[in-house]
Amino acid sequence: MVEKPKVVLGVSGGIAAYKACELLRRLTESGHDVRVVPTAASLNFVGEATWSALSGNPASTEVWESVHEVPHVRIGQSADLVVVAPATADMLAKAAHGLADDLLTNTLLTARCPVVFAPAMHTEMWEHPATQENVATLRRRGAVVIEPAVGRLTGKDTGKGRLPDPDEIFEVCRHVLARGVVEPDLVGRHVVISAGGTREPLDPVRFLGNRSSGKQGYALARTAVARGARVTLVSANTALADPAGVDVVRVGTAVQLREAVLKAAADADVVVMAAAVADFRPAEYAGGKIKKKDGQDPAPVALVRNPDVLAEISADRARAGQVVVGFAAETDDVLANGRAKLTRKGCDLLVVNEVGEARTFGSEENEAVILASDGAETAVPYGPKEALAEVIWDQVAVRL
Ligand SMILES: Cc1cc2nc3c(=O)[nH]c(=O)nc-3n(C[C@H](O)[C@H](O)[C@H](O)COP(=O)(O)O)c2cc1C
Repeated sequence: MVEKPKVVLGVSGGIAAYKACELLRRLTESGHDVRVVPTAASLNFVGEATWSALSGNPASTEVWESVHEVPHVRIGQSADLVVVAPATADMLAKAAHGLADDLLTNTLLTARCPVVFAPAMHTEMWEHPATQENVATLRRRGAVVIEPAVGRLTGKDTGKGRLPDPDEIFEVCRHVLARGVVEPDLVGRHVVISAGGTREPLDPVRFLGNRSSGKQGYALARTAVARGARVTLVSANTALADPAGVDVVRVGTAVQLREAVLKAAADADVVVMAAAVADFRPAEYAGGKIKKKDGQDPAPVALVRNPDVLAEISADRARAGQVVVGFAAETDDVLANGRAKLTRKGCDLLVVNEVGEARTFGSEENEAVILASDGAETAVPYGPKEALAEVIWDQVAVRL
């Protein structure tokens, strides 16, 4: 029998502790053996009985319980992943300074597996230099610290500090666990990813669009967070949940996408243009709905060129050494067209895939060849878009 991966779910004393119940469910239902280690403060929010019942394992807080099993070292030593959600400002400080005054802090010191923190707190606490320095220390040591989401906090205030959606924290855990790497390779890197498909309006109700769902770009964003990157996702007309730890900028048209990508790229180490950006847009925008006129043929729609964002980013790198990745969706002569596009655009990597009405767009899978400017070609077999995303990051990481 294959042993289930062992996950330690650390829960510290934030109001979002109740959301960790959902994360626990996702972990257990997907075949993980979860041991919950709550702090004493967190038991004010969710009781020990909930953790034991949901996990099917004892949930201890102090090092003085079941001492014969030496839990203060055993739990950390045997874990495949430790995730702390929510992580309080206090817990981040303790972890950064190596304090060990309860079972969770002891576990963090004895763990030799990947560690993920999902902080949640009021904006002031998050932005305080003490917290920011603790986060930087933990990241430098190899922990994945997920940026909190922006939104409603405890009470009436709104701002950065919300715990991301438990489903999305689960996604980060899944990717970190699958890689099993203790030192994430994109730590300290800012990556900008465009995703989705632009819409070019004809009038207030109609647009020219394309079939891109954004799933490949979102898979790139999720996997980049799990590899420690700071991620800006420029999302054009997608209907997908915000990935945990990602700064999502929503755009509609190619012109808006260009503006958002250029702004974010100013301090980016990597730019990945996975969005399907319209080559043309209607020359004129009708302020009111275009009407059908009796007995008249419709007027042809004149188009003008949109800016070529990939070529522009590739030619004017905002930073020396910035790696630029493009995508080519082709229906015919896929590889030949891809090679020509790589030369024309001047990017470092071009991910070429064959598309069709029911192929690639909207699907969970993809198959591609990654062409590099040095002539290397890597075929990625048909599989989940996340698997392709991981290969793209492998190739980016060696070029950084
Ligand atoms: C109602 C309430 C909500 C709290 N929410 C948070 C929170 O979201 N994030 C945080 O960092 N601290 C929060 N705190 C403060 C922590 O509970 C406090 O710092 C505690 O010492 C944390 O202990 P622990 O890190 O050992 O769990 C909250 C306190 C109370 C009373």
